[in-house]
Amino acid sequence: MAIKKIGVLGAGAMGSGIAQVAAQSGLQVVLVDLEQRFVDRGVQTMLKNWDKDVSKGKISAEDKARFVGNLTTSTQNIDLKDCELVIEVVVENLDVKKRVFAELNDICPPRTVLATNTSGFSITEIAAASGRPDRVVGMHFFNPVPVMRLVEVIPGTETSDETVALAMEVCQIIGKTAIKAKEAPGFIVNRLLVPYLNDACHALQEGVASAEDIDQAMKLGANMPIGPLALCDLVGNDVLLMVAEYFYKEFGDPKFRPSLALKQKVRAGHFGVKTGKGFFDYTR
Ligand code: CAA
Repeated sequence: MAIKKIGVLGAGAMGSGIAQVAAQSGLQVVLVDLEQRFVDRGVQTMLKNWDKDVSKGKISAEDKARFVGNLTTSTQNIDLKDCELVIEVVVENLDVKKRVFAELNDICPPRTVLATNTSGFSITEIAAASGRPDRVVGMHFFNPVPVMRLVEVIPGTETSDETVALAMEVCQIIGKTAIKAKEAPGFIVNRLLVPYLNDACHALQEGVASAEDIDQAMKLGANMPIGPLALCDLVGNDVLLMVAEYFYKEFGDPKFRPSLALKQKVRAGHFGVKTGKGFFDYTR
């Protein structure tokens, strides 16, 4: 199927990043969120990124105008009705995602593929709630989406080959490398990354070193582009805690036990970059 129009449901950091790379690749993009202020914030992020690229000479002003022209926005899910693919990027909560997929099933024609950007929940469970399990697939992007090259493509147990092929094709169109992963909590990247980030929180809790020194150690000693606690803040401590709790429940293995330091950040509302505070302060 020739893909021309995709929907992105959720205009947060991940949703606006996906909408950005899709609009850049020439796809028509409908970006939807619950409230106008969320949509506006997502669009502002994209415009800021494109302005930066214009000033660096990476794109022309005409390119930017073309990208903007590929984008429409809405606060009504019904406006996703004529998309060939809808990528769900709402809050990382399984019940909310199931509700959203049931609603999308009512709105979109049977041919539309519904993808979830879940960080690790069961695609099969989300697909079962959708009423079209053969047309549901995981498409897991990484933050910041315009920079990170990978998309994990995850079929549920009933996902058709045609649906997987469409997801892989869209990744190619938008310039990402797709890697297919079998359904298992956290797929590939988060299965390995989340315990590492959670362990950095445990180390902080145990007083092994300061947050600054833990991060500096991993940058200088393991060549990480960013320290683990700064990465917690970038991913979002709220998202990370939800994923860690899900892993702990699913695997039943104490190695996934969420750190108290991580829980306390979330309890204090210090979700990281998006709230201005996390393990580090972003307000200054
Ligand atoms: N949006 C768009 N572009 C961005 C950006 C953003 N949010 N952040 C950085 N960039 C761009 C910059 O504009 C710059 O572009 P140019 O090369 O054209 O100048 C480039 O990225 C490098 O940026 P900086 O020089 O400012 O900073 P840096 O060298 O520290 O790189 C980084 C920033 C790419 C984010 C780097 O710190 C990094 O790779 N961090 C690790 C990110 C990571 O691991 N992400 C995965 C998280 S896990 C996840 O997302 C999945 C999940 O489910 C939880």
